[in-house]
Amino acid sequence: MPITTQQLIKWKQENRPIISLTAWDYPLAQILDEAGIDIILVGDSLAMVALGYPTTLPVTLDQMIHHAAAVCRGVKQAMVVCDLPFLSYQESVAQAIHSAGRILKETGAKAVKLEGGHPMMVETVHKLTTIGIPVMGHVGLTPQSVLNLGYKQQGKTDSEAARIIEEAVNLWQAGAFAIVLEHIPAQLATEITKKIAIPTIGIGAGNGCDGQVLVTADLLGLTQKQPPFAKAYLNLRQLITTAVQEFAADVRNG
Ligand code: KIV
Repeated sequence: MPITTQQLIKWKQENRPIISLTAWDYPLAQILDEAGIDIILVGDSLAMVALGYPTTLPVTLDQMIHHAAAVCRGVKQAMVVCDLPFLSYQESVAQAIHSAGRILKETGAKAVKLEGGHPMMVETVHKLTTIGIPVMGHVGLTPQSVLNLGYKQQGKTDSEAARIIEEAVNLWQAGAFAIVLEHIPAQLATEITKKIAIPTIGIGAGNGCDGQVLVTADLLGLTQKQPPFAKAYLNLRQLITTAVQEFAADVRNG
């Protein structure tokens, strides 16, 4: 049975950890799904890990749809969530509905994710969820705000922490079914997790969240510049290099 938003909320109540990873193409999505990953996120980090851009800002809605459709073709069980890319939803609620609608209709993804918890985003989440589009929130370090915030940890001061708590609570009350907490202190993430009735999915936010997400390129050791909080479970870059060099040697040796 494909995983639903209701199932994820039930798992929070049962203290069953939620496992999430990112994917950007068909074979990777198939592997993650067969390995039993609960949420496969077509994150806009694909701009960097699959398309070679320096940040997530340049990736377009059409590019996200192209990748998300390939991911969905490889998935039977997991819930596929697709990021709304930068400037595909911030202009107006109407723009967000149009972009999220395209993602759902053209890819087969079951939900969208958007960044930020300021009042306009809360209104957007409320509108999207009211018309039947499931939304995952994302607060703390929000990479689409890199030009303002950089990639540094958020929520270190009392006022920043209070703002992030308020954003998470407002997103929950607006109808979000889960919230990514990125690169915030573990204590703050634990506090938010206890305060809201929907799952928190942490990345660089300690072990007090309801689930964890990683960018799969970081987990596999494919990324050249690893974020400080991401653990590589494999050095795939090195393994590929060795395989390619062995092939080259075989060819050279006839
Ligand atoms: O784009 C992405 O991969 C993400 C994760 C870091 C949660 O948003």
